[in-house]
Amino acid sequence: MTNLNFPKDFLWGGALSACQAEGAYNVDGKSLTIPEVMKFNEKNDRKVTKQIRINREMIEEAKNDPDTVKYPKRRGIDFYHTFREDLALFAEMGFKVFRYSISWARVFPNGDDAAPNEKALQFYDQVIDECLKHGMEPLITISHFDMPIVLIDKFGGWYNRKLIDLYVKYCDVLFNRYKGKVKYWITFNEINMSVKAGAKTLGIIEYDKPNFEEMLFQGLHHQFVAASRATKMAHEIDPENKIGSMVAYFTTYPYTCKPEDALQMQQDDQMKNQFFLDVLNQGEYPYYGKTYFKNKGITINIEDGDLDSIRANTADFVGMSYYNSMISSSDTEQLELTAGNVHSVYKNPHLPANEWGWQIDPVGLRYTLNLVYDRYKKPVFILENSSGFYDKLNEDGSVNDPYRIDFLSKHIEQMGLAIADGVEVLGYTMWGPIDMISSGTSEMSKRYGFIYVDQDDYGNGSMKRYRKDSFFWYQNVIQTNGEQL
Ligand code: BG6
Repeated sequence: MTNLNFPKDFLWGGALSACQAEGAYNVDGKSLTIPEVMKFNEKNDRKVTKQIRINREMIEEAKNDPDTVKYPKRRGIDFYHTFREDLALFAEMGFKVFRYSISWARVFPNGDDAAPNEKALQFYDQVIDECLKHGMEPLITISHFDMPIVLIDKFGGWYNRKLIDLYVKYCDVLFNRYKGKVKYWITFNEINMSVKAGAKTLGIIEYDKPNFEEMLFQGLHHQFVAASRATKMAHEIDPENKIGSMVAYFTTYPYTCKPEDALQMQQDDQMKNQFFLDVLNQGEYPYYGKTYFKNKGITINIEDGDLDSIRANTADFVGMSYYNSMISSSDTEQLELTAGNVHSVYKNPHLPANEWGWQIDPVGLRYTLNLVYDRYKKPVFILENSSGFYDKLNEDGSVNDPYRIDFLSKHIEQMGLAIADGVEVLGYTMWGPIDMISSGTSEMSKRYGFIYVDQDDYGNGSMKRYRKDSFFWYQNVIQTNGEQL
């Protein structure tokens, strides 16, 4: 393995989201969110990425049903009550940073409450203080796939401009409360997922409307404006604040060296990835995005001041998650589909895949880091990376997971090579340092963690935590600052 030199202050750590870990879905005044109306379906074919279309009927059915077996994200891994124990385990691995999200539906349970819910803030106070106690930098995602249902009921989600003000008010509370404690913030988790998974990101569920795609882009425009206003406010409240943009990078390669395939790849990269990062980092709608709108007959309602705000308040760093890559071709008939993050992708014959069909491509991480850094010339933060695996808990409480170590060591090596290429990488928060409920499938058995949680897909189990082999491996990676992979 090549000698890798990670910066001395490199932020090694892990990332979780409130809606997959916290549980306690109706505790201390919290209201319901979209992930909590998503059912676990054991009959789902794992190798196909199903777009679960959350609709009005599903929401109404779930509202009247207190079941936590059917709706696994309501129980999560009970992080709401186990955070001290879990954070101590992260600290034992030597985490320098812990990425976590705050639940909007906890802080403003009615969406438009005059004042925030003090109980919710007290919970996050404790999480943040516990991180600081352990010397871990808290990195906060303000909105991570957990659209409050009340904001859909009252306003129709992000399609309504009113959500900009409500979001900014929520940010105001967080930035003031955690001033001097939290420095790194992400405005929206994987903002490019919005046009793929509009329910959990934008709260837009009118699939049958002829202008549904236009509605999604309108909602996205409101998020862009909200992110720019939040960025401005964060800098005013504390000039130390660093605000990150974030996408799930869908790295893509041309299927062949046919120019038409390369062109398709360029277009896919533009509308799946760059469009979102361009607006948030270059401060304007890119020309190809405007052309896309024109060709599709999409008109976005942009109010006075929106574009000025977007231009004046770009992000401080580029955040990305990286799970798998895909291929692009001008002739897709010959291609095979495989599952991927949120949507299916065309299969690359050169890559292996995990049991869910997500392709494994460590070199793609180096490629993507170079691509992104070259385009935006801003530091990059890898906010999520890993793969789901089945794990088996042995009788002696051990879990042997060489596949996870193999996946992560290869990706970290490529990240190290990108740093050697000259890319400025701030840190690496692998996804899911402790097992939790899968975002896409609501399974528990799709595990990411260094820490095994004794819970099955139906909520059975002791909920006890066990250190997997990879726990000790990552501890050593951090201890040696990436020298020993
Ligand atoms: C990312 C999300 O897109 O993918 C996470 O930000 C999610 O919330 C992760 O858990 C992995 O996806 P899944 O469906 O395997 O949980």
